[in-house]
Formats: sequence, structure tokens, C-alpha cells
Amino acid sequence: MSDTLTPAAHEETDDAVPEFPMPRAADCPFAPPPEMMRLHSEHPVSRVRLWDGSTPWLVTRYADQRALYGDHRLSVDPRLPGFPHASAAFQDAFAKNPPSFLNMDDPEHARVRRMVTAPFTIKRVEAMRPTVQRMTDDFIDTMLAGPRPVDLVEALALPLPSLVICELLGVPYDDHEFFQSRSKVGVRRDATPAESRAATGELLTYLDEQLQAKLAHPADDMLSDLAGRTRAGELTRHEAAMLGLLLLGSGHETTANMIALGVLAFLEHPDQLAVVRDTDDPQVVAGAVEEMLRYLTVVHNGQRRVALADVEAGGQVIHAGDGVIIPGATGNWEAGHFPEPDRLGVGRDARRHMAFGFRVHQCLGQPLARLELQIVYGTLFRRVPTLRRAADLNRIPFKNDGVVYGVYELPVTW
Ligand code: HEM
Repeated sequence: MSDTLTPAAHEETDDAVPEFPMPRAADCPFAPPPEMMRLHSEHPVSRVRLWDGSTPWLVTRYADQRALYGDHRLSVDPRLPGFPHASAAFQDAFAKNPPSFLNMDDPEHARVRRMVTAPFTIKRVEAMRPTVQRMTDDFIDTMLAGPRPVDLVEALALPLPSLVICELLGVPYDDHEFFQSRSKVGVRRDATPAESRAATGELLTYLDEQLQAKLAHPADDMLSDLAGRTRAGELTRHEAAMLGLLLLGSGHETTANMIALGVLAFLEHPDQLAVVRDTDDPQVVAGAVEEMLRYLTVVHNGQRRVALADVEAGGQVIHAGDGVIIPGATGNWEAGHFPEPDRLGVGRDARRHMAFGFRVHQCLGQPLARLELQIVYGTLFRRVPTLRRAADLNRIPFKNDGVVYGVYELPVTW
């Protein structure tokens, strides 16, 4: 079989292979990197170069992305040769610790994922709405009673999802400084292997202690359930701690970034903010959340896979052993699916976005993330109608170095 099936498919000559990840334009902090959008229109399946010199395929078109997400000939196992690691620290972490189900293939992935799906069903999450609303109002009350300007990341964006996932898991929120600081290391692309290993080790020890405590004193929470499964022999202690780690980390890092970056995007688009602030219709807010998820696509480093067999995408053969990167942002900014994709339009139907991935590994926590975002966007601007940035846009520190995009700080006043 020839490597290139159609003239449109593309493999750059070795020294022309662009580096990945690619920088965003300084004057356009919400848009995907221009070079990535250029590849999307000119060479939708093309080689990119990673930190270690490897050259996996970057698959940028919506249709190809959706097809590959459901293709079992691609693996998420980071221990396989050819897997495109985000950094040396990620590679090291996976070599030392057997992965959690985010990095397992079916059927093992499905077996473990099933153990933790129940609390994330739409019905169970919807039942949490009054609690999450109360938590949100409490954080906003505290913010309004304190000095201004205030950092919205510290005041609301980080503590809310952190408190919610703590309640679900049964982890004491009083320990949040400990696990937030260690989780931050885990999502930094520039963390050294030693830093990452130390942070992960501390978190796993902490979660193992929590699981042992739940064995002695079970409660109505997810860690107690996982602890019970270790006793029943369904999970090892290490597997249970890894699951706790996955849920604790993904439960607050991603949503926190969507809250802070989303608030900033609304402040930069006052007409769109007004729609969300002035409506009484929860469906309008729910639609705005989908559009914001599409527009920002905060998991911005691409979903990583390695081919187990030869696979064709966009007219290009991806060989067994080749790495594959699927950046959600380019599909979510494809004009054929989302007209005028660079326009934030909260009234559009953005429900087919891929900000939560698609198919096998589609985000487990998406009902919870949606609930939190609907409550925050639907409450904050109504309660604080004069909310505004308290620093120039070019002084806001963006998380270009993280696997999840966002802002480190968002100074606001009212
Ligand atoms: C706005 C917030 C969130 C975004 C943008 C997001 C995004 C994603 C994406 C893109 C994936 C797919 C990864 C892949 O295909 O390789 C994923 C998977 C996952 N997410 Fe989320 N996520 C969010 C919130 C959450 C929350 C609140 C939780 C709750 C604990 C969570 C738990 C997970 C888990 C466990 C997986 C792995 C699913 C699997 O492999 O079967 N996420 N998420």
C-alpha cells in the first residue's frame, strides 16, 4: 500500500516538520494557534515534532478526528513504543505507575470505568444542583464581602470544582492546599520527571491513607465505594488510589480553567455576557456553556494515541507504531461544522463540539462540568453585573505551558 492515498495528504520533509505544541497569537488568546489552523486547512494530517524529536501525526479535521476517536486500532496505552508523550515527566510517570482507565484500552478500560460511572449520570448530577448552587453563592458572598480587586481563580474558579469533587469522593476539603498544589505539578508540561514523580507519589500516599480510613469508617462517597472494591478483590490498593487520583485531578483542574477563562471570554464579549446575564431561560445558559466549551477547548494539547495497526485518516496511511495527536480545537473551529468559528456566539447550536473528546474515552465528568459551568455563568454575572477585569488583557498570565489551557490569575473588580 502506498503511504499517501490522495494528493491532499501530506508528509513534510524532515526539517520542515513543525514543532508541537504551537504558540498562540499574543493578541488572540482564545483562538487556537495560527500554525495549527494553517495545517488544518492545508495539510489536515501531517507530521509534527515533539520535545523528544519524535514526529507523530497531527490529525486536525473534524471528520477524521471523530473517526479516529472510535477506532480500536488506536491505543491510549502510554507504555507502548511510539506513544506521543506530552513531556519527559509524563513519560516517566507512566513508566513508573500502571495507568488509570484514561490510559487503558477496552475491555480493561470499560471494566474499570464502569466502577465509577454511577455518580456521574445526568440524574445523579442534576440532584446536586441545589448543593452546587449554594456553594457557588457562598463563594460569591465571601468574594463580595472581601477587598477588591480579587483574583477570581482563587475566589471562585478553583475552590468551587475542588469542593464539589471533594464531596463526591469523600476527601476532606481542608486538605485542598495540599492536593491543589500537587495536582498543578501534574498538569504542567515543563515539570521535571523528579518534580512530577514526587508530587504524584505524595498524592498516591495521601489517597491510599484516605482509602484505608474509609475501610474502617465507610461513608456515602466514592472513596468508600472504591475501598470496598479493594476488600472484595475487584481492585488493588494501587488501582484504587490511581482512580482517586484521576478523579480528584480531572475533577477540578479542567473545570477551574473553564470557569476562569470562560469568565474572561465573557468579559471580552459584553454582548454575549448580556445574553447570559439577562435570561430567565436555563436552556439559554446551557447553550452558552456548550458554545464556551467549543470556543475555548481548554484541553488544548491534543488527545494522544498510538496506532496498533495501519489506519487511514484523511487520505494518509498512519502506520502501526506511529503516534497520533488529535487536537480538539481545530475540529471545534472548523467552519463547515461551526460557521464563523472564531465568533463567540452563545445562541448557536454547538452541541456537537469535541471539547470532552468523543466515543470510547469521552469525558466521564461532563455532566458535572456542565452543571458547574451553568451555575457559575448563570449566577456570577447576574449577582455582580458590574464585574470587570482589573488588569490589562496583556498582563493576564495565560497557561500556555499546561496541558489544560486557562489563566493563572484573573484580577477582577466591580
Ligand atoms: C470543563 C471541564 C472538563 C473538560 C473540558 C474535560 C475534558 C476531557 C477530555 C477531552 C477527555 C478525553 C480524553 C481522551 O480522549 O484522551 C476527558 C476524559 C475524562 N474526564 Fe474530563 N473534562 C472536564 C471535566 C471533568 C470532570 C469534572 C471530571 C470528574 C471527575 C472528569 C473526568 C474525566 C475522566 C475520568 C476521563 C477519562 C474517561 C475515559 O478514559 O473513559 N472530567 N475529559
